[in-house]
Amino acid sequence: MIKKYYEMTPDERLASLNLLEQDKQYLHNHQDSIHEQLVENYISDLNVPIGILKDIQLNGKSYNVPMAIEEPSVIAAANYGAKLLKTGGGIKATLSSPTVMIGQIMFKNIDFEEINIFVKSNQVQLFKTAQMAKPSIYKRGGGLKSVHARQVSKKQVSIDFMIDTKDAMGANIVNTILEAELVLFNMYESNIVGAILSNYATAQVVTITGSVAIPAVGGKQAAQKIVELSEFGQNDCYRATTENKGTFNGISAVVLATGNDWRAVEAGGHAYASRHGKYQSLTSWHIDGNLLVGTLKLPISVGIVGGAISAMPQSQINLAICNIDSADELRSVIGAVGLAQNLAALKAIANGGIQRGHMRMQYRALALQIGANKNEIPELVSKLVAEAYVDESIAKMKLMELRNET
Ligand code: MEV
Repeated sequence: MIKKYYEMTPDERLASLNLLEQDKQYLHNHQDSIHEQLVENYISDLNVPIGILKDIQLNGKSYNVPMAIEEPSVIAAANYGAKLLKTGGGIKATLSSPTVMIGQIMFKNIDFEEINIFVKSNQVQLFKTAQMAKPSIYKRGGGLKSVHARQVSKKQVSIDFMIDTKDAMGANIVNTILEAELVLFNMYESNIVGAILSNYATAQVVTITGSVAIPAVGGKQAAQKIVELSEFGQNDCYRATTENKGTFNGISAVVLATGNDWRAVEAGGHAYASRHGKYQSLTSWHIDGNLLVGTLKLPISVGIVGGAISAMPQSQINLAICNIDSADELRSVIGAVGLAQNLAALKAIANGGIQRGHMRMQYRALALQIGANKNEIPELVSKLVAEAYVDESIAKMKLMELRNET
């Protein structure tokens, strides 16, 4: 009998693909028996470099933070930003209401007052149902904390369930509870649009503040330029998008390294960036006396247990490197990395652009791209740094020169 695709082994799937033997072998060498169990139609792993942000000071503690990212200069920039933020006394994180996720049951063609009264008068039942649906989260001190109706439009209402998921990111916990709660709304069955968690995790807003001694960024004038650049990000959507992308270079690299869902964090962050009716930068910088002071504010919904995080050894190892004890601590570290990343980018841009500072990293990537081997890369990079202008053809020429010299 012919196997269905999802029934095949990873190697059988590889064999069915139109690929060179050496490419199949490469993918075979990067297979992981745990990852094979995580997703359907598995063939291999994608390898993303992991590097360390060494010694970021947050709430009086020093962290080594693993970052998973392919972009060459990001980890170097994060390290630099973290170093700058030490000059102002380290970073501080405050959390709104930790670990509470929001789940929605959505209704159409319904009168707000009617469903509001229904929710208010059925609180006991709503709480009991949540507990029966997910007793394990109650054992850990979590569970449904409150539930209320929220008017979305004239005829649309969302019943919002605030659920404490403790150290789990909690998507499965929330969805399990919501789906159990649906039964209570049987009489409104034809009005129900759907039930699902919200990634707009406004109950988990993290506020990160950090300061830099003004001489460390090159003096008052340089600090002023950073402030002006930051103001641009508050007013211009084009700039805000790029600035937030840079902040997410740091945030998403840690979210990914720890096995968390970076799409959820990014979606929540971008929605939060639009909360005042226009899309703005998530960070802002101002001068206060001798300090350049920055703030980053966004919802960060992550976990340290559950789902893929517990299944993937790499996530567990990365959490161990980071020496993280709770989801709240991880959330704070992720925010701190975002602020450091943003600071490094703004400082570089305000001082003539990012290319100059990160040339060695960019040239290493270029050297790899044009086929330089491990032994040739350092010398080729040194040659390229000495050039006023570099592109792929110049890099290739320099590589040929180098090969002829040796
Ligand atoms: C590049 O990946 C990120 C930056 O563009 C961020 C920014 O412009 O603020 C440097």
